Amino acid sequence: MATGLVRRAISRVQLLPASKLIIARAHASEAEAQQVEPKAKPTTNLKTFQIYRWSPENPQNPELQDYQIDLKDCGPMVLDALIKIKNEMDPTLTFRRSCREGICGSCAMNIDGCNGLACLTKIPSGSSSTITPLPHMFVIKDLVVDMTNFYNQYKSIEPWLKRKNPPSALGKEILQSKKDRAKLDGMYECILCACCSTSCPSYWWNPETYLGPAALLHANRWIMDSRDEYTQERLDAVNHEFKLYRCHTILNCARACPKGLNPGKQIQNIKKLERSGV
Ligand code: SF4
Ligand code: SF4
Ligand code: FES
Repeated sequence: MATGLVRRAISRVQLLPASKLIIARAHASEAEAQQVEPKAKPTTNLKTFQIYRWSPENPQNPELQDYQIDLKDCGPMVLDALIKIKNEMDPTLTFRRSCREGICGSCAMNIDGCNGLACLTKIPSGSSSTITPLPHMFVIKDLVVDMTNFYNQYKSIEPWLKRKNPPSALGKEILQSKKDRAKLDGMYECILCACCSTSCPSYWWNPETYLGPAALLHANRWIMDSRDEYTQERLDAVNHEFKLYRCHTILNCARACPKGLNPGKQIQNIKKLERSGV
């Protein structure tokens, strides 16, 4: 059937008188002449990344080093640009990354003044961007900061289920209603990237004593867990002028969180429970 149609189409062209064919050709060349030549697209899109550099092997003052790359030959995210620079221009550039999909929390850094995950942050528009380590943290090398204090603060809130009554049988699950499970929304999603704590002015000034938004969000996560039997002890443990009450509800933490969480709100909940004497 299809072959028949093709044959018919060909025979119709063949049957056209020569004069009509000439007219048809003339129309075609007019149309071709009217076709606007597509504008030649620029072959490069250069952008400069100013990246914080410091190494303990060369203990001079830190400096910003410029790297210019062609965005046409680069993935869309800031982490893509960093990997390209490291692979193609400077293998000494040091930064943390693992999952490249906003799960591991290791690529947190400051991008054009805002904390965020390099793998979830699109390369900003404009001819240059500045990338520095998370603010007010000790730098180990380049964009890698020392997270020891941050992790110790997390550990201090004892982030695991604590029970006074063991399960009725070994290995038996401790059940939770859907409603109680929902109380953990907005907290269990935290990936411990430290974007919030390192954007918090109170944490900048008192990093040793103030627990900071991330650790306090997790404290509240366990306080609110219906299966945990140490609620009062957990509240007592953080009920401290510096550990908890350095939070002044400025909410930089909520603005910085790449997972859309609101640690300031969770801190408010702890303060409310402290006031109500649960
Ligand atoms: S709300 Fe509290 S924890 Fe969040 S940035 Fe402000 S002071 Fe820090
Ligand atoms: S609350 Fe958000 S910003 Fe803070 S550590 Fe967790 S995921 Fe990161
Ligand atoms: S690489 Fe894992 S969160 Fe960015």
